[in-house]
Amino acid sequence: MMQQLFRTKAITLKGENTGSNNLNACLSKWDLTFLGVGAIIGTGIFVLTGIAAATQSGPAVVLSFIVAGFACAFAALSYAELAASVGGCGSAYGYSYAAFGELIAWIIGWDLLLEYAISVAAVANGWAGYFNNALTAIGFALPDVLTKAPKLGGIINLPASLIILCLMGLLIAGVKQSAKINNIMVCVKLVTITVFISLAVFNIHPENWHPFMPFGWFQTLPDGKTIGVFAGASIVFFAYVGFDAVSTAAEEAQNPQKDLPFGIVVSLVFCTTIYILVSGLLTGVVPYSDLNVVSPVAHALQLLGFNWASALVATGVIAGLTTVMLVLYYGLTRVIFAMARDGLLPEFFNDVHEKTQTPVRVIVMCGVIMAIIAGFIPLGDLAELVNIGTLAAFVLVCLGVIVLRFTQPNLPRPFRSPYSPLFPALGMLSCGALMAFLPAQTWWRFLIWLAIGLVFYFVYSKQHSKLEQAAN
Ligand code: ALA
Repeated sequence: MMQQLFRTKAITLKGENTGSNNLNACLSKWDLTFLGVGAIIGTGIFVLTGIAAATQSGPAVVLSFIVAGFACAFAALSYAELAASVGGCGSAYGYSYAAFGELIAWIIGWDLLLEYAISVAAVANGWAGYFNNALTAIGFALPDVLTKAPKLGGIINLPASLIILCLMGLLIAGVKQSAKINNIMVCVKLVTITVFISLAVFNIHPENWHPFMPFGWFQTLPDGKTIGVFAGASIVFFAYVGFDAVSTAAEEAQNPQKDLPFGIVVSLVFCTTIYILVSGLLTGVVPYSDLNVVSPVAHALQLLGFNWASALVATGVIAGLTTVMLVLYYGLTRVIFAMARDGLLPEFFNDVHEKTQTPVRVIVMCGVIMAIIAGFIPLGDLAELVNIGTLAAFVLVCLGVIVLRFTQPNLPRPFRSPYSPLFPALGMLSCGALMAFLPAQTWWRFLIWLAIGLVFYFVYSKQHSKLEQAAN
C-alpha cells in the first residue's frame, strides 16, 4: 500500500507524454520572461506594500521584500532546475510525481489549484475596485448592487466576474495571442512604475525613514498577532507569487530546457529590483503611517501633488492586475490539464482543442467557477491562503531537487541549482519560516483544504490513476 502511494512516475521528455493532446510549443524566452513579470508585479507592490509598511514593518518594508525575495530566489533556482530536467506543464505537481510519488504529487497539485484559483479570484476583486474608481472618475459609476458581493450589501461584483470571463475568452483563443496581450500590458505597468520611480526619486524626505524599523524584526502583540520585518515578509511574499507559473509553460515553450530557467530567474531578479526600489522610495516620500490605504502608490503621488501621475498609476494597476490574473489563470489550467492527463482528475479535461491548441474544457470550467467565486464572495482575507499554499509548493520543489539528485543522479540537468543541497535546503528553511509567521487561522483553512483533497484522492483519483492502471 505505502509502496503504491509513493510510486514515482518515470520522467518523460517534452512532448513524449502528451500523446495526441499536444499543446502549441510557440513561446520564446522573452514571452516566458514577460509571463513571469506579468504574474509577479501586481497587488503585492501596488497595494500590500503600503499595508505592510504601515502595520508590520515601517520603512523597513524594504527589508521585508529582501527577506521574502531571498526565500523566493532559492525556490526559483530549484524551480529552474526541475522545469528544465523534469519538465511538464504540471510544474510542482509534476516534479513531485517524479520525486516523491503519487500521493505527495496529488497533495501539491491540489494545493496549486488553491493557490492559483484563489489568487485569480482575489486579484479580480482588487481589479474591480480600481476599475470602478476609473469608471466613477469618467462619470460612468456602476450602482453599488453591481459592484459588491452579497455579504457587502450588493448583489454581485459584476466587473470581477466579467474580467475573468474575458480572460477565459483570451486563453481559449490561444497561448500566443494571450502572450501578446500580456506583453503589451506588462509594458503599460512597467511605464507606470518608471514614472513613479522618476518622480519619487526627486521628492524623498530622508526623515521619513526614521525610525527605520519601528516594529523591530519580530514581536508578538498581547492579542497574539505578530508584527515586524519577518511578519511583513510573510505578507509581501504575495508580491512574488507567480514566477512559478512560468514553469507551467514547459510544454508551450520553444526551447524549454534553456528558456524556462531564463524566464524564471530573469523575471524574479527584475521584479525583486523593482520591489526594493519602489518600497524604499514609497516610504521615503510619505511617512509610513500614511500608507495604510488601498492604493498607496497613487496616494503617494497625489500627496506629492502629481494628480495626473496618480491617474496614470491607476491605469497601470488595472493593466498590471489583468496580467497577474491572466498568467495565474493560465497556470491553473495547465496544472489541471496535467492532473487529468495522469488520470487523477476526470479524463474529460484531458483534451486539447484541435484548432486553438488550448485545453478549452479546463479553461471554461475554471473560468466559470472563478467568475462565480469572484462575483459573490469578498476575498480579502483569503490572500494569506495563497501565501501558505505557494510556500508549501516551494518547500516541496526545493526538497524535490535534493531527492532527485540522489535518486536520479544521471538525469540530464540543463540547469543546475548552484550549491545543492545547500541552496535548496536554505529555500526549504526560509519558505518554511515564512509559513510559520502566518496566522493560525490561515493554517487551519489550509489544512482543511488538504483534508478535502485527500478524501477526493482516495475516493476518486487513486482508482483512476493512469500509473495505478498501468501497474495492474
Ligand atoms: N504577485 C502577484 C501580485 O502581487 C500575485 O498580485
